[in-house]
Amino acid sequence: MPPLTADKTMDKLVSLAKRRGFVFQSSEIYGGLGSVWDYGPLGVELKKNIKERWWRSMVHERQDIEGLDAAILMHPKVWEASGHVSGFTDPLVDCKHCKNRFRADDPRIKGTPGQPDGQCPVCGSKGTLTAPRQFNLMFKTFMGPVEEQAAVIYLRPETAQGIYVNYLNVLQSSRQKIPFGIAQIGKAFRNEITPGNFIFRTREFEQMEMQFFVKPGTENEWFGFWREERMKWVEGLGIRSGKLRWHQHGPDELAHYAKDAYDIQYEFPFGWQEFEGIHNRTDFDLSNHQKHAGKKLDYLDPKTNERFVPYVVETSAGADRTALVVLCDAYREEEVRGHEAAEGEGGGGGGDQRVVLKLKPSLAPLKAAVFPLVNKDGMPELAHRIHDDLRRHFNVFYDDGGSIGRRYRRQDEAGTPFGITIDGQSTQDQTVTVRDRDTLKQDRVAAGKLVEYLTQKLAG
Ligand code: GAP
Repeated sequence: MPPLTADKTMDKLVSLAKRRGFVFQSSEIYGGLGSVWDYGPLGVELKKNIKERWWRSMVHERQDIEGLDAAILMHPKVWEASGHVSGFTDPLVDCKHCKNRFRADDPRIKGTPGQPDGQCPVCGSKGTLTAPRQFNLMFKTFMGPVEEQAAVIYLRPETAQGIYVNYLNVLQSSRQKIPFGIAQIGKAFRNEITPGNFIFRTREFEQMEMQFFVKPGTENEWFGFWREERMKWVEGLGIRSGKLRWHQHGPDELAHYAKDAYDIQYEFPFGWQEFEGIHNRTDFDLSNHQKHAGKKLDYLDPKTNERFVPYVVETSAGADRTALVVLCDAYREEEVRGHEAAEGEGGGGGGDQRVVLKLKPSLAPLKAAVFPLVNKDGMPELAHRIHDDLRRHFNVFYDDGGSIGRRYRRQDEAGTPFGITIDGQSTQDQTVTVRDRDTLKQDRVAAGKLVEYLTQKLAG
């Protein structure tokens, strides 16, 4: 079946995400807060599975990377040293007529902002757009009880700086040697001018970042190494490879800290966009912190006795954007054929159509759902016993509401890979049927073998 293609498909995905408890608009009962989203029971599991997979591959499976969880609030001088106070800006233009705000490079703007031919993309007025001015994307807040006297501090716009300022602490306490890396998952905040596309560009989001510290002169080699590693990891999420590509930044796209950068892009329903970046940050950050903090951050190579400030190769992924990639790639609208259609079990919205999230089983929020076929004849008792047994091993769901077809359809939308049905035969011989979400095929499995059966199917 075709993947998401038209604009409408994002609306469908947003609606499914709400219906099934993946993602809700923040503060919805108050009319919502712009471009801030909350993860519901299934969304939090999906994002956690992605983050755990990242942590496992970056920290647990490698001897040369250590984990860190640095605070969101940092000394304000960090952001002067990092260049974010002066350089983390987007060019902003206002329409004096309709009061909307745009990035000056918004492709919908015709003519030149600030000139008579500059045309507002919302109200269509000509000559009402202001000339571009630089707008800093960092959120400010106050530290201390009295606002007027309190220090202005920032909500971090990237997690990376927490790693740089702790680089010596981690190096010394872990007894690592260069080359080595520090990995961190955490929230970041940006006061984006044009957020949007659901959880693609938001004002509060989570990053999964790793900074790899290397000897100057070896950074190109490591830059290549990490590009390959990261693409392998992304493919391991089960994303179709035809939907992935590299994009190298041109000189006008590079962030203020980067000498070279490659994005991994996905073909979203709204076009090709980045969801992870691999950056050669040179010694930009460590050298600047060294200068601003007045503390030496160089490294003494124990083998050669050379001193140097390490270069950094960064891998920076958005947890929310990666979750969006996974959701978009998994979303399918399908015609149901075979016995489920013949039994007229279309359910959940009619006919023989179904909406299904073909999530990689190991990423799926719920691994299996347990269904007593009917609520009598000993089936619920056996189903509860099986559910209790399974949930000690996996996140599983119990559902006895409505026809079995409707129950299957609800779990298809949730992306649950297996449906376990306890039927009349089950109470006789202690076997159950296991329905595969993607093929709709059913296996009959001994109840006592379910843990083993699911463990094998969920591997990878
Ligand atoms: N430390 C480097 C850095 O922050 P970036 O390209 O600005 O680099 C890295 O961001 C990743 O963080 C992006 O690829 C994206 O996945 C995620 N990200 C950035 N801004 C975001 C936003 N406003 N909403 C959601 N995710 C965002």
